[in-house]
Amino acid sequence: MPQSKPSVLFVCLGNICRSPLAEGIFRHQAGMAGYAQQFHAGSAGTGAWHAGEPPHPNSIAVAAQNGIDISGQRARQILREDLDRFDLIVGMDASNVANIRQLGTGRAEILRFLDHGDVPDPWGRGMDQYHAVFELIGQAMPNLINRLIRARKLAD
Ligand code: 4NP
Repeated sequence: MPQSKPSVLFVCLGNICRSPLAEGIFRHQAGMAGYAQQFHAGSAGTGAWHAGEPPHPNSIAVAAQNGIDISGQRARQILREDLDRFDLIVGMDASNVANIRQLGTGRAEILRFLDHGDVPDPWGRGMDQYHAVFELIGQAMPNLINRLIRARKLAD
């Protein structure tokens, strides 16, 4: 991973529903804002159950309906090393953040995606929940992108 680019890792529990959507939406919005090549983004799960699998079919579907292809992503478990490899590690809910912090400390700043509240886990729920999660992530993502742009400018 090129160290020169500001990097962000999105983390949920299984890395098949929420964080793959966050990674895809981040890439999409950053690209639309003209920052397609400026950042490095990834996603991971605190659990390993789905390692190697593509995102959940409902996440793939809701992304595709919004013009975003996340089908090439593969789930992986977060590693201790990620805490030094990424600038920012973003948990989708408070339990994700707690589990990330249990790995230790590193260079990365760890925060929850939403300032106030959690991105609800749609796992085992209907397509409407995946749409709601997509909207929630999409609405809050500009904040995160602006934060990274500001950090980049300060560092330049
Ligand atoms: P995610 O959803 O954390 O948004 O990927 C889940 C996916 C799978 C499981 C839990 C949450 N699971 O227990 O297998």
